[in-house]
Order: sequence, then structure tokens, then C-alpha cells
Amino acid sequence: MTAKTVKLTTEGGDFSYPLMEGSVGPDVIDIRKLYGETDKFTYDPGFTSTASCQSAITYIDGDQGILLHRGYPIDQLAEQSNFMEVAYLLLHGDLPKKKELEEFSYTISRHTMLHEQLATFYRGFRRDAHPMAIMCGVVGALSAFYHDSTDITDPQQRLIASHRLIAKMPTIAAMAFKYSIGQPFLYPQNNLSYTGNFLRMTFGVPAEPYEVNPIIEKAMDRIFILHADHEQNASTSTVRLAGSSGANPFACIAAGIACLWGPAHGGANEAALNMLREIGDVKHIKEYVARAKDKNDPFRLMGFGHRVYKNYDPRAKVMQQTAEAVLKELKVSDPVLDVARELEHIALNDDYFIEKKLYPNVDFYSGIILNAIGFPTEMFTALFALARTVGWVAQWNEMISDPEQKIGRPRQLYVGATQRDYVAVSKR
Ligand code: CMC
Repeated sequence: MTAKTVKLTTEGGDFSYPLMEGSVGPDVIDIRKLYGETDKFTYDPGFTSTASCQSAITYIDGDQGILLHRGYPIDQLAEQSNFMEVAYLLLHGDLPKKKELEEFSYTISRHTMLHEQLATFYRGFRRDAHPMAIMCGVVGALSAFYHDSTDITDPQQRLIASHRLIAKMPTIAAMAFKYSIGQPFLYPQNNLSYTGNFLRMTFGVPAEPYEVNPIIEKAMDRIFILHADHEQNASTSTVRLAGSSGANPFACIAAGIACLWGPAHGGANEAALNMLREIGDVKHIKEYVARAKDKNDPFRLMGFGHRVYKNYDPRAKVMQQTAEAVLKELKVSDPVLDVARELEHIALNDDYFIEKKLYPNVDFYSGIILNAIGFPTEMFTALFALARTVGWVAQWNEMISDPEQKIGRPRQLYVGATQRDYVAVSKR
């Protein structure tokens, strides 16, 4: 069978480029020789048509609204698995056997403490610092504390760094929260689950025993699963790009956190809840929908739309069900949920949203759950970062082990001044 190719005709002649086939999804045109052969680059701001790597971790079919981790549908994982198991799956490629899961969970639990000196580091921040500012700083600083796991050429050090990042992230996020409200930091308690431990470090106080509410624990764990990985999104691509230069894993994940912070990415969960609160009542929805459609108004419906999903985000479906269940269980009635339901209904029946294929994404309902659990909005993106660390670490490891990996170095279409001679300031 002859390999499939794509022909390119230019004024300089005809060229042929191989088509690469994945296990599922669109073929990819291998243009690595394009510049060398044609003296031309491709132009693709935002990488809308560019595959930056080969990956076997996560698959998204945006038209069908499908998300698979290592082949497993996200809704099955969210309903039947738990975050530790999903973390193992993302890192190692297959679901763990019972003993493997026990060993993995044990290993992670043995890395949950932070170097004691890091508590001093926190004290350098203002109390009103955004938790994401603290996360960027503290995670970047881990490389100054764990020198024995920064040699990326050593697979053992890479594994230890991966475990450390996954294990310490809940401690780091919980400490950022505690710092903001002026309560003492709590040390991890390793007889609790990954998620239970995080809840205790966040909402517990040293003066009293803390009992983990299993309903909240389950919901939180599910939220972590839903955020664990998402293919080559902006923050993951940032982690890969930072890592492509050989930077240490802590620095790379700090770069990912910085990218995640933006409102078009991880910051959307915070922005979505703020927006729902601002709308306040179902009677104001029409006005906001009109603003979202107005080209001259920068307002967008936060928690709506996605670069890849042109159908309902499968994570949003699970998130919506979880929101309903959590509010019912906690006997919380939040008018914001009514606003969200009605906004979704109106937008999904509006021509603008139908034509542009804009559906609720993962961030539309997550804020309602996190708010009911007791998190302030500023913590939302930090929770996203906590969960996404697993994906970042899995993608970073995959990249480091990929023999085709090269330092990331896009080119450009230069539109600036052509060469000109310097003029002394006195003569300008
Ligand atoms: N409200 C109103 N109009 C929108 C929205 C929205 N939320 N999203 C996209 N559009 C319009 C946009 O104006 C554009 O219209 P036109 O073609 O007339 O110029 C069209 O839909 C396509 O949008 P785009 O900005 O070119 O699409 P993109 O793929 O570059 O952006 C997005 C994707 C997620 C940044 C965007 O949909 C958005 O800003 N959504 C709100 C923020 C949000 O919820 N982000 C979370 C994404 S999911 C979690 C994560 O990845 O972290």
C-alpha cells in the first residue's frame, strides 16, 4: 500500500508531503520539510490547524463532544473512577491493578508535605494576593527546594518530580487559601484520601477535628477528574514549550499555571460565576445575551464556547448533574443555579449561539458547585491548576521521552520595517 500524501503546488514547483494517521481523528500533514523545500512557512495564529506533537494521552472529538483519556470516556471515569486512579491512568497509560493503585496512592501520600521553609516563602505575599499569584510563585520555587529531582535526563528524577508535583499541589493550594484568610496552615494527614486531605487542609482548623463530608469529597474528586487533562490546550502547550528547552519540571508547571490563569482559559470558572451573579435574576438574561451577541461590546458569555468543542462539552454535562446533586445534598438553594439553567436554555435556542456552535463548557457549572462547597471565587482557578497538574505532568513526561521532540520555536510572518540605517538622536 502506498503511503498517503498531500500535493502542494507553488510557483517554485510541485511538492508532496506525507499524511500521518493517528489511531482516530483527522490525518495530519507532515510539513517538517516544507521550509527546507519551498522556502515557505505556514501561518496559523492560535494553532487552529496545527498538531504540535504526537500524543497518546487524551483524545477529543469536538464535533461529537467526545473526550477520552487513554481511550476511556470522561463520563465513565467521572462516574466510576476516582482521581488517584485517573492520575495513574494518565501517567502510565492503563488503569492500575488493585495493588498498583494502592502503591501509587501510598507514594503520592508520602510526598504531600512541603519543605518547612516554604511556609516562610508564603509570608512574603500580601494577604490579599490572588491564589494563582501564590501558586505561580510557590510552584516555581519548588525547584529551589527539591534539587534532587530537577535532572530531566534521569527517568527516576522525572518520576519523583511528577509524584511531588501531584502530591504537593493540594497542600500548596490549601495554604494559599489559609494564608488569604489568616488561619494557620494545616499539615497533610495521610490517612485521608487525596481529595479528603485537601478538603481538611482547606476547611479544617488545628483547634478542632475535621470530618470529611463524603458527598463533598465525591463531588470534589469528580471535579478534579473533569479537569485532569485536556489534550494540547493553552496551558499544556505552555508546559510543553517551556519543557522543550530542558527547563526543570517545577518551572514548567509554574509556566502552565501562569497560562491557565487567563479568563479565556482556567480563569473562566471564576469569571463565569461572577457573571452569573452579576446577571442576578432570570429577568436580566436577555439583556446579557444581547450584549454577548453585540460585536461592539467586548462582553462574552463566560463558560460558553470552546476552541475544540462545537457540541456540548461532555465535562459540562457531568458538571451540571453534579451541581444539581451537591446543592440538593447540601440543602443549598442558590438562585445562581436558576440563572445558569435559564441562560443555558436561552442561549442554546438562540440563532447566534446555534450558528457559532457555542455550548456551555466545563466552567459554566463548576463555580456553582465550588461556591456551594465553600470556596471563594478566587480559589476556583487554583483548584483547576491543582487537578490539571496531573495532565501537565503526564504530557511533560511524554514530551521528554519523545525522540522527535525538539525545542519549540515557531516562525513568523514579518511585517515590520525593512533594513534601515541608524540615525543619531541629534539628527532625528
Ligand atoms: N460569548 C459570545 N460569543 C462568543 C463566545 C462567548 N462565550 N465564544 C465565542 N464567541 C463568538 C466569537 O465572538 C466569534 O464570533 P465571530 O466569528 O463573529 O467573530 C466566534 O464565536 C468564534 O469565537 P473565537 O473567539 O474565534 O473562538 P476561539 O476558539 O478563539 O475561542 C474561547 C474559544 C473559549 C476562548 C471562547 O469561546 C471564549 O472566550 N469563551 C468564554 C471564555 C470561556 O468560557 N473559556 C473557557 C474555555 S473551557 C476551559 C478551558 O479551556 O480552560
